[in-house]
Amino acid sequence: MLKGKSILLGVSGGIAVYKAAELVRLFVKAGASVHVVMTANAQKFVTPLTFQALSNNAVGSDLFSMESESQISHIQKARMADLVVLAPATANLMAKMAAGIADDYLTTILLATTAPVLVCPAMNVKMWEHPATQRNLRTLAELGYRIQPPAAGFLACQEEGAGRLADIEDIVESAIRLLTPPTLTGRSVLVSAGPTHEHFDPVRFLSNPSSGKMGYALAKIAARRSAKVCLVSGPCSLDAPAQVERICVTSAIEMRDVILKISSKQDAIVMTAAVSDYRPSEKAAHKMKKSPEGLSVLLEPNPDILASLGAIKPPGQVLVGFAAETENLAQNAKDKLIRKNLDFVVANDLTRQGAGFAYDTNEVKIIERSGETSDLSVMTKEEVASQIWDRVERLLSGGQK
Ligand code: PMT
Repeated sequence: MLKGKSILLGVSGGIAVYKAAELVRLFVKAGASVHVVMTANAQKFVTPLTFQALSNNAVGSDLFSMESESQISHIQKARMADLVVLAPATANLMAKMAAGIADDYLTTILLATTAPVLVCPAMNVKMWEHPATQRNLRTLAELGYRIQPPAAGFLACQEEGAGRLADIEDIVESAIRLLTPPTLTGRSVLVSAGPTHEHFDPVRFLSNPSSGKMGYALAKIAARRSAKVCLVSGPCSLDAPAQVERICVTSAIEMRDVILKISSKQDAIVMTAAVSDYRPSEKAAHKMKKSPEGLSVLLEPNPDILASLGAIKPPGQVLVGFAAETENLAQNAKDKLIRKNLDFVVANDLTRQGAGFAYDTNEVKIIERSGETSDLSVMTKEEVASQIWDRVERLLSGGQK
């Protein structure tokens, strides 16, 4: 995700400094080259050696170092960064930034850089709520700094409230987002995900093993590309991706009602949900008793949401379906492409290892209306999602259908 990117991590002095070490590890794991700059106070909490070992790069801290400043290293560092992340950012650092003060290595770099800067504050709740800090925060936002708000919870100072450094994973996600070209800016997209539950009594239902991973990956990647994302999700245990509006539903009928209500406003719709094709004709009001004769449940067909969308598709909208198959993959998928009036179909062979339900990976064929077929090798569901959005973007910009 961050391959080839250079991140400058500015660490100022607060108890959350130890969490910044984990942040370095995650940035490096995502492929970034990380350069850490520490304030003098930050070094009182964790030594530069820790950050040097984790980043594999020398840690900058001394504006007057005879060695590094012979190359004017603070200006070089300011130039080479694709992104600057300040974590933790103390109230003092934020105040200096708001005032334009440059009196140490880190604040000098902050005035000299033209890279986007993500500020991740961490401090005592009273310091966070202080009008001066809040005023500085507003000033930083006006100056174009991106703010990752602190989380609320139990703080190191034994007080409760806002001031904890945001979750490290959320900071990484924000960094990835800031470094992702905003190719879906101004676009509204809808993604459906997960299974549906079709109840025949209050505690039993008909469903399938969809985990929601494929749909959530699609929502996450679209949000990274700056789309306005609505995720209509069947029951699953995943957290909503950052910057995504999630609407939770249970049954196919509920999913259809939600989707049809907002479908006309969407530039693109991707139906990943494993919608149950049938639902019980009746639902008992109470838990059905076990009977030695067994149980017969009469099923009736559910509406086909994707086919309905295909029938009312407004001009210019891109409609994408999935096809989950266990035989005749390409032929069955092509039939769905035509029958449901899709722009392209993503065919999933459920018999393959590493593909389909619940895996973190998928192996799909993408079949376009022209008949052109791309066989994608096994890759993460996020990578599959990127491939899908690349094609959606091409179609939205008037590319060949
Ligand atoms: O959630 P995961 O664990 O990550 O698994 C991902 C997945 C296997 C669920 C996903 O990759 C996938 O293949 N989704 C489609 C599942 C499916 O229902 O396939 P289908 O061939 O039965 O349906 C074809 C298309 O019609 C799908 O886009 C489906 O969303 C849609 N459909 C189906 C039935 C119905 N009543 N209404 C629909 O809109």
